[in-house]
Amino acid sequence: MKILTIIGARPQFIKAAMLSQAVLEEGKIQECLVHTGQHYDSNMSAIFFDQMKIPKPSYMLNAGGGGHGEMTGKMLLDLERIMISEHPDCVVVYGDTNSTLAGALAGVKLHIPIVHIEAGLRSFNKKMPEEVNRIVTDHISDWLFCPTFDAVQHLKNENVTGKIHHTGDIMYDAALYFAPIAEKQSTILSTLELSSKAFALATVHRAENTDSDQNLFEIMEGLRRISMKIPVVFPIHPRTCKRLDELNLQFSSSNFRLIPPLSFFDMLILERHASVILTDSGGIQKEAYFHKTPCVTLRLETEWTETVKAGWNQLVSPHSDAIENAFDRAHAGTSISVYGDGHCASKIIQKLKEEYV
Ligand code: UD1
Repeated sequence: MKILTIIGARPQFIKAAMLSQAVLEEGKIQECLVHTGQHYDSNMSAIFFDQMKIPKPSYMLNAGGGGHGEMTGKMLLDLERIMISEHPDCVVVYGDTNSTLAGALAGVKLHIPIVHIEAGLRSFNKKMPEEVNRIVTDHISDWLFCPTFDAVQHLKNENVTGKIHHTGDIMYDAALYFAPIAEKQSTILSTLELSSKAFALATVHRAENTDSDQNLFEIMEGLRRISMKIPVVFPIHPRTCKRLDELNLQFSSSNFRLIPPLSFFDMLILERHASVILTDSGGIQKEAYFHKTPCVTLRLETEWTETVKAGWNQLVSPHSDAIENAFDRAHAGTSISVYGDGHCASKIIQKLKEEYV
């Protein structure tokens, strides 16, 4: 059996690390990795491959940058050619990025079964490019591996025709597997001179926040006010970095640390040791829960509704007062069982093996 896996953006490298490991343990499956080049800076890509020992991609494309159409179009051209020459039994795509959509579209047109990992998530906001990517991908996939029961229900409500399975969350596998390794290897707390549970961690990269001057200004003002109470560490995504430069908002200080993007291990350690996380990332909201850190989500909707219901996560509009108030109120919640038992990747591989080996 041969699978062709498409990855391109930071969170996909982490998911792929767990699946590639399960593939290697299985032994009877050949995996061909294709990196689209959506994320190309070394601290957004290469560092993840090195740290998590992800196999070297067989194909490295150069499709990053540009608008959505240009990026997705470039990927489609190359992916179709690769799929024709590799002849895989199925194509694996993760999550909701332009790389996910391109991989699924190229494969379905060639009648190759599509495997969507992290299927069924919905924000019900089609202005997010990610929401469009996931809806289209789900509807053309043959295998839909869902991280939560809500995700399963969304697919049933939309009469999605592929095989739907709740396997838990592959990011939970990664959090459990890598936490002890990161605790041993990362020196980020001492490098940044931070004490456990005495700082806040912030990330911002969603287009709805970065592309609106008003939203970005309000978020920065909210974080600045929090930094008067507790140190704030803010690893800046390249998209956000460009916008902060344009708006003259790069006001780093000893209590408000704007730093370059971090490796997964350093990020994991900051997530575990922060007292509160403020983010507009999907994955980080959930990782906050995995590491039992209260979260403030800088968006009005979330795909991970169970984190809000369980009390760990608050949704806030991008207004400085709302952000500061939510930070003051952030607290621990109750436990959530839907993310599985940390063996999502091997469950997915078992299902595929039953069909294709
Ligand atoms: C993408 C995904 C999002 C995912 C996120 C993880 C889409 C539509 N969005 O958002 O779902 O949560 O990745 O980080 O696919 N850039 C660099 N260096 C890099 C990577 C990007 O400078 O290594 C620049 C790009 O050229 C672009 C901007 O950053 O100008 C945004 O990158 P892009 O890949 O469009 O989307 P993300 O915001 O990263």
